[in-house]
Amino acid sequence: MRKDTFSYKVTSTVASVWDNIKRVFSSQADPEAEKKEDTDPANQAETAKEEEEKVEDGMWEETFKSHSDGKPNGPSAISLDFSLPGVEHVYGIPEHADTLRLKTTESISALQPGCVPVRAFQHSWKGTSLNLSPSFWDCLSQQYETPQTDVRWISESGIIDVFIMLGPTPKDIFSQYASLTGTQSFPPLSALAYHQCRWNYNDQEDVQTVDAGFDEHDIPYDFIWLDIEHTDGKRYFTWDPHKFATPKEMLQGLVDKKRKMVAIVDPHIKVDSNYKIHNEIRSRGYYIKNKDGGDYEGWCWPGSAGYPDFTRADMRAWWASMFAYDQYEGSMENLYTWNDMNEPSVFNGPEVTMHKDAMHGAWEHRDVHNLYGFYVQMATAEGLIQRSGGVERPFVLTRAFFAGSQRYGAVWTGDNAAEWDHLKISIPMCLSLGLVGISFCGADVGGFFKSPSTELLVRWYQTGAYQPFFRAHAHLDTPRREPWLFGPENTALIREVVRQRYTLLPYWYQQFYHAHQTGQPVMRPLWVEYPQDPATFALDDEFLIDLLVHPVTEEGARGVTAYLPGKDEVWFDVHTFQKHNGAQNLYIPVTMSSIPVFQRGGSIIPRKLRVRRSSTCMEHDPYTLYVALNPQRTAEGELYIDDGHTFNYEKKEFIHRSLSFAKNILSSANLAPEAQFSTRSWIERIVILGASKPSKVTLKTAGGQESQLEFEFDASMSVLTLRKPGMNAGVDWTVTLQ
Ligand code: GLC
Repeated sequence: MRKDTFSYKVTSTVASVWDNIKRVFSSQADPEAEKKEDTDPANQAETAKEEEEKVEDGMWEETFKSHSDGKPNGPSAISLDFSLPGVEHVYGIPEHADTLRLKTTESISALQPGCVPVRAFQHSWKGTSLNLSPSFWDCLSQQYETPQTDVRWISESGIIDVFIMLGPTPKDIFSQYASLTGTQSFPPLSALAYHQCRWNYNDQEDVQTVDAGFDEHDIPYDFIWLDIEHTDGKRYFTWDPHKFATPKEMLQGLVDKKRKMVAIVDPHIKVDSNYKIHNEIRSRGYYIKNKDGGDYEGWCWPGSAGYPDFTRADMRAWWASMFAYDQYEGSMENLYTWNDMNEPSVFNGPEVTMHKDAMHGAWEHRDVHNLYGFYVQMATAEGLIQRSGGVERPFVLTRAFFAGSQRYGAVWTGDNAAEWDHLKISIPMCLSLGLVGISFCGADVGGFFKSPSTELLVRWYQTGAYQPFFRAHAHLDTPRREPWLFGPENTALIREVVRQRYTLLPYWYQQFYHAHQTGQPVMRPLWVEYPQDPATFALDDEFLIDLLVHPVTEEGARGVTAYLPGKDEVWFDVHTFQKHNGAQNLYIPVTMSSIPVFQRGGSIIPRKLRVRRSSTCMEHDPYTLYVALNPQRTAEGELYIDDGHTFNYEKKEFIHRSLSFAKNILSSANLAPEAQFSTRSWIERIVILGASKPSKVTLKTAGGQESQLEFEFDASMSVLTLRKPGMNAGVDWTVTLQ
């Protein structure tokens, strides 16, 4: 085998796989265990025999704490080892709360428990490739003549499918992977705006007060969320009859303000013969069964609960039908859905999940565990689509996911805490998800458990505003933390960054359209764009959404050092317009007012600067184009516009334009001549960074009309601002600087 290619072997017999797993877990429990090995050959033989017997013990029946696993099919684990010569950097296998670049597991003896898609990118300057398989993962970094990483994939059952995508560039891999698992679903534009959540908003009045608070403090938001307490005794698809007695009235109040709501619908169903959903699932035989054939019951939020078998297509179709407006009483078109606890969570189950020998038809839970959460979100998204007669794009948030979950909505990183380290780790966690195609990802802003200091809360808003899914959330036991509860100065800081998010919504939307079309991640590590630059390989305290963002994640920070990539590039600070050269570590002093964000010279970014109550209120507002010139004095960008919420874009009802600046001419050209859509939005300002002063600026529109534009030039920052060019955003035009 050539030295720079993969090598792999099916590692072992099942026994040695288990042997390995047990070794790892036992050495986790006792880190000294490995060191205490007996060197006497006679004793070793004895130990080996005992080990073998022990392994045999667990093969057909096993106990874990107080749980027993019947293993009717006996041992079925399999593993595969890969050697990756020349590779020092591996990435992927979300969800792990650690660095982006995967650490070796030899020192920490940790296998990754996988109830999630598991895959790794291996990356060297020569190229990037990928492999995929479920369950456990082990990584060793070898000191051979050339660097090498050895990885072991272990699955508890089934077969291992290995897909090797050869790239050679990261971008090639994203499309290759998307061709297997699909691309990011295209969310409604409003879902990219700000979400206000807590466990719980107590009643309708509370919802109304919080909603009014946003207006009073001039902070935009699009979605307010209701957690489990909004239901009638944790019976999903219902409302607490006292606290949420008139949900439609509440929802209409939000409709009137062009705002929306998300209510939680978890997949554990209260066992209660007076509960319609439970009765239907039971009578249709849709519950997962225990090993004895009865309905499986576990303990979750409602107390005793059944778990619908989402691996059944008929069950999913039925579940989807429950979102119809006449089934889900009190629901309206501005009510969307949050699927939580879909790993599935079973409080009294082994490892807080379902018994592995529970049955999904002929399949054991151990075989389909990773797919459960995937199917829950799939069925829910389908329900939201169906209730609108196939017209509206759904929005569904999920906690559990698998390869392909990107097709059904957004993912969040689960229960974090209000700690600086958790803010920091939100970056690599979202980056790892992006690498596996799950672009619509975020972490609970502010931290779920505990109470953030004001400084941490502000820094978290500033980070979250530049991550794809932007939602504040808090645990039931934490003090309230709506953005205006921390004094006027902090309210202003939070207001400012939420408003920055809103100005950038056209750009986020366009990025998601791109992700939807191509499978490229929206939030990406620097090495994806600079695969030849080793300085980017381990970076995970900053990221690209095309803009380069370096959050501040240290308490009391007075500055951060950001790496600006690209030796031939320049970067413009979006707050000051100051220009910096690429390929340098730049120390940037920071205050509480913002975090460092840079626009790459060579890019054009559309914004809407008239921030209103919600994204929908901004629909017809005009655009400002930020044109950042590179050293060759060129720049390129795009503008994507559609109705923001239906599937009509699939029927070619959209505007997609290329914006380019070259030879002192900025022009807008149609990228999709076959598409038809019209917009009332117009271009109200063009800001050119890195410009020189023109003597005159001429606008030419498609009809051939010419007009001179007023402009201002700031010589200290080389910023040229063209005021009110006024052309429609959907037509051809050129602006010439002379
Ligand atoms: C889980 C979720 C959390 C939610 C809580 C109550 O812990 O991760 O976000 O608030 O359940 O539903």
